[in-house]
Amino acid sequence: MSAKVRKAVIPAAGFGTRFLPFTKSVPKELIPLVDKPVIQYVVEEAAASGITDILLVISSDKEAIIRHFNPVPELERRLEERGKTDFLAEVRSVSHLAKIHYVYQQELNGLGDAVAQAASFVGNEPFAVLLGDTVMRSDTERPVIGQLTDVFERTGSSVVALEEVPLERVSRYGIADGREVEPGVFKIGRMVEKPSPESAPSRLAFAARYVFTPEIFDALARTGRGKNNEVQLTDAMQKLLGSGSMYGWRVRGRRFDIGSKTGFLKGTVEFGLRRPEFRDEFAAFLRETVAKMES
Ligand code: UTP
Repeated sequence: MSAKVRKAVIPAAGFGTRFLPFTKSVPKELIPLVDKPVIQYVVEEAAASGITDILLVISSDKEAIIRHFNPVPELERRLEERGKTDFLAEVRSVSHLAKIHYVYQQELNGLGDAVAQAASFVGNEPFAVLLGDTVMRSDTERPVIGQLTDVFERTGSSVVALEEVPLERVSRYGIADGREVEPGVFKIGRMVEKPSPESAPSRLAFAARYVFTPEIFDALARTGRGKNNEVQLTDAMQKLLGSGSMYGWRVRGRRFDIGSKTGFLKGTVEFGLRRPEFRDEFAAFLRETVAKMES
């Protein structure tokens, strides 16, 4: 099995009920942060980490995602004629980030089922999984999924991204119980899905990025429906753990779950303030608004 991670799977078929009513007609993965849809940040993160082939898992009412990554020759011609070279470069780059493939998840049976759709695309290689509604801002030059592939290349075992969350929020996530074997790297002993604060083994939550060996597909095939009557990726990971080792990586960066309304608001502030052309005006506006509301 090749040790290099070249392929990634981005599940993007889910309903997006947490972001209704917007998601009635528009996929949540197309929600913009400043001027780019969430899923473009995710594809860029993968491409900048050395991933060359990406499989997007979608459903039939989310085909607008395909259109976002397809070239639009008519628009490109217009921009060219009008000398709008910056926009032209921007639009063209979207279609050249990586080789993008699609598969339909016929029934929305959960994240585990979405990943299972990637079996023939992946074959016998390690691969990355990046949730299509979650943007990761890295604290280092290396994008977050690249941080995970680095750990995979050292250990040869599956790796899950971990982020420390406040104790009162552990019940929203899968939580890892692990021993830190080198700075930031945890050997996972067990994992608990959505524990109560009292029963949580740690505050290290799974953070929307994974690298798996292809054994995950056997584990998924043996995984029935779990919580919410959906096939849970965590349940398959638990099986994988039973037959081998798995590591966790405390990410150097921050997660923004744009599928939640507060995640979207926080992401907009973070990514808005990080754009040099908007920073001063936007920061002044935020300060003024907060000051007015508090007075
Ligand atoms: P979520 O856990 O946010 O689930 O999925 P969801 O169903 O999309 O959203 P809510 O809870 O109804 O608001 C995390 C990622 O996995 C994808 C989603 O599109 C999202 O990018 N997903 C989820 C699938 O591809 N298929 C599924 O059956 C479920």
